[in-house]
Amino acid sequence: MKHGLSAALISLVIVLAGFVLAQDADVVAGKRQFRSREDSGSATGMTCWHCHADFNEKKTPDQYVRPGHPMFNVGFRAKYQAWDGSGLSSLEMAVKTCLERWMTERRAGSLTGEEAPRHRIRQFAAYLRSEELSPERKSKAAEPMRAEALPSDRMLTLGDPALGSTVFRRSCVICHINDGSGPAPSLIKNGYSRYQIGKKIRGIKNTGLRGIAMPPFTKGRLSDREMLNVIAYVYQM
Ligand code: HEC
Ligand code: HEC
Repeated sequence: MKHGLSAALISLVIVLAGFVLAQDADVVAGKRQFRSREDSGSATGMTCWHCHADFNEKKTPDQYVRPGHPMFNVGFRAKYQAWDGSGLSSLEMAVKTCLERWMTERRAGSLTGEEAPRHRIRQFAAYLRSEELSPERKSKAAEPMRAEALPSDRMLTLGDPALGSTVFRRSCVICHINDGSGPAPSLIKNGYSRYQIGKKIRGIKNTGLRGIAMPPFTKGRLSDREMLNVIAYVYQM
């Protein structure tokens, strides 16, 4: 009787330890995949890191301001949202939505790719909920994504390209590498009008390119002033 009990206890401990180790393995895999095109199996070259910081951006910013919110304390939010501002029921749904919109094999005639593998969703979610990324265990919803109107045509001609080059290095070059090696096309001699560049940035009626659409920047990530300057710079590239 006593033996049976301790044997049961020992197997319980082994099962629990196995569970904890498996979770740790998921955290490690999720962290590795966050920045790596190869490890994440990204078919588009886009990784989470192109759009989200996986560190406390307020405290230790790097040289980039990305289109998506930082993933610091994202693990236990009251609410989640997709790139178009629509509500999502869980962290797993948010990860799945991003994977399918930007990273999985493209489907012809659609901006949504093939279904995301479940193990990857689980691994990314484990990383985002880990102590390292979500120490607070509870957090408010991020500032809502909403459609932003473009400034007037006259305003669009008023940006300063010199100031815009700084914005370009901070918010565009992470994807638009000049030699064309990034996940987005080089913008050298792009031939776009100021209005068209502005529409890409704010995500207005963007039909994308080869099944992928540039993620929108809201005013919280890129102000109108910064946008006018970067438009002036990109227009003359
Ligand atoms: C091309 C850009 C892009 C890529 C790549 C991308 N995301 Fe997102 N993601 C967004 C945008 C835009 C949103 C909308 C809300 C926001 O700004 O965070 C979002 C939302 C989310 C949210 C919900 C945030 C919240 O607070 O509601 C999570 C979680 C998330 N992404 C995780 C990921 C993970 C994990 C990956 C990689 C597997 C990834 N994303 C890849 C752009 C991207
Ligand atoms: C997270 C990656 C990412 C970031 C950051 C990003 N873009 Fe893009 N951009 C894309 C992708 C992908 C495309 C191609 C799909 C499309 O046209 O929507 C694109 C397309 C464009 C185009 C059209 C280019 C063409 O040849 O069709 C312009 C112009 C543009 N982006 C401007 C910008 C500017 C300006 C910034 C910085 C404020 C920026 N982008 C930041 C991913 C990004």
